Order: sequence, then C-alpha cells, then structure tokens
Amino acid sequence: MLNRAKELLKEVETFKTDKLEELELFRIKYLSKKGGILTDLFSDFKNVASEEKKEFGQVLNSLKDLVQNKIDTLKSSLEIDKSHGEKPDLSLPGEVFAHGSRHPISLVRNEIVEIFSRLGFTISEGPEIEDDYHVFSALNFPEEHPARDMQDTFFIEKHPDILLRTHTSSVQVRVMDNQKPPIRTISPGRVFRNEAISARAHCIFHQIEGLYIDKNVSFVDLKQTLLYFAQELFGKETKIRLRPSYFPFTEPSAEMDISCSLCGGKGCNVCKHTGWLEILGCGMVHPSVLETNGIDSKIYTGFAFGMGIERIAMLKFGVKDLRLFFENELRFLKQFV
Ligand code: DAH
Repeated sequence: MLNRAKELLKEVETFKTDKLEELELFRIKYLSKKGGILTDLFSDFKNVASEEKKEFGQVLNSLKDLVQNKIDTLKSSLEIDKSHGEKPDLSLPGEVFAHGSRHPISLVRNEIVEIFSRLGFTISEGPEIEDDYHVFSALNFPEEHPARDMQDTFFIEKHPDILLRTHTSSVQVRVMDNQKPPIRTISPGRVFRNEAISARAHCIFHQIEGLYIDKNVSFVDLKQTLLYFAQELFGKETKIRLRPSYFPFTEPSAEMDISCSLCGGKGCNVCKHTGWLEILGCGMVHPSVLETNGIDSKIYTGFAFGMGIERIAMLKFGVKDLRLFFENELRFLKQFV
C-alpha cells in the first residue's frame, strides 16, 4: 500500500492539463467523497501495520497536499488563460473624466482683470462686511442719501454701523488708506443689495471697481482707458458714449454706453432699439473724497469707474435671466467649458 501511495505521488506530480474539464475529473478521481483515491487510502489507513503507520501517514499527507496544490495552481493558470481570450481592447478610447468649467462670472471677471492689468492696473480687494465709513461716509454720501436707506442696504442686526457692502467703491477708500499715489488698481468682488430677485436684479451680484490717481490725470485719460477696455472686451468696432450722471464720489460723473454688441448699433430688442447699452458708471474722483482719504487734491487728480459683472456677462453670452448665474444648474454651466 505504501508503494502504491508513492507511485501515486509521481503520477500526481507529472499530471498536466490545459482543460478545466480534465482538471475537474482529476479532482473527482482523487478527492471525491465516494470512491476518490485519497478518500479510500485514508479509510484503509486503519488496516496498515502499526510499524508502517508513521511513514504511510506522512506519504498520504504529502499526497493530499500535492493533489490540492496541483488543482489550485492549474486552476488559476487556466483561468488566467481563459480571461486572456477576453482581454480588454487597448485601442478603445479611455474613459472620459468630466472636467469642471469656470463659472461665466469668473470668466468675465478674469477677462476684465486681464484687460486692465495690461494697462498696469493691479488688483486689490476689501471685505464684504464693511462699515458705514468705507461704503458711504468716506465716499461723500450725504447723511440722508437714499442709498443708505434700509431698503437698499443689508445692515448687521444691532450694529447699525456694520453692513454688507453695496458696491466695491468701498475698496477705493481702503486702497487710499494704505497707498500713496500714483494708484492704479481694480477691485473685483461681491456686493449685496436688498432687492427683490428677478430676471434683471439679485440681492447678491459682482462688481469691478477701478481707480486711477496721479498728477495730471484728466477726463481724457478716463475716456481713453474706457474706450480701450470696451474695444478689448466687446471687439474693435465697439463705440462708446458718455452721458452726464451723478455719483456722490465723482465730479463730474458719467455713465458709459457701448454700441449694442448684438445689432452693431442698428437697434434691437436687447438695446431697446436705441443702439446703445449702458455698462458702467464713472467720473473724476471728487476732491473731497481725495481730501477725506489723505490725498492732496491740489496736487493729485484721479478717475474711477464701476461696473456690474453680471450685466456684462449677460451681454457677452446672450443670457436673458440673471438668476441663472446663481442657480448652479449644470446644463447652464456646462455651456461655458
Ligand atoms: N459704485 C457705483 C454703483 O454701485 C458704480 C460707480 C459709479 C463706481 C461711478 C465708480 C464711479 O467708481 O466713479 O452703482
């Protein structure tokens, strides 16, 4: 019996197959509970003479291990071979990762910042939670000016002096606090107004403020700077016009229109058949604003301007409802990839 077991060791060792079905027959032949060679040998164990038991037991155990190893290794190599028949097609295009895209407001802001940086303007920013001084008083707003009204401004409860800035002009004041002329800076940022939300207005929106203070800065510099800006942003054929206006912090003040970028000035629905679109407010910095902020208005003059980014984005991208910029609707945002 010992000899038979030793022969079987050799037989198992040399067993080879490249078919899973043959391997299964091999398994049944040795390990089957009924009539399997190993099962039978183990049950014969009790009949073995006691002096042979030790050796026979060792041979039987190695035979059992060998059979199990053989099955495991052959099985895994056959399975790998099998899967090679279905190996992945490496010529297929890869899985596409969904890339994010910049928000249209960021795109327009970046473009405006880029245009002014070519003219030597640096970026400055200020806090969104501001005080009355920086938003109104230092900008020459009279005590009773309607913009201070509770209807427009979000005040912080129990702190009537603290509010959410209603315009980025407050950053002008912070820059003048910290820098000496020459000053040439633009300030993009979020602003807040207590307005009913509609297709044309929102309680949160974005502005870009510009400020240029130096010796001999004139209205001509303002006009030329804004013309350059408008033509860079809306195309070389763009015309501008300045209409007299009023802001407490500039004198004289103006509003700037550009020739309608959609109809080229011929008149359409967007420009309400005027051929012009208003895009910003501007003017020469009021001497008393300069003085309040520690700049000698006999030596220095300056210009300032401010525009709403949403409005410009609507014109550039043909967006008809301002609320789309705030809703994070992917079908909208994906169009700006
Ligand atoms: N701050 C003004 C607003 O929110 C916009 C503005 C107008 C800014 C004229 C200026 C300016 O700097 O000179 O409506």
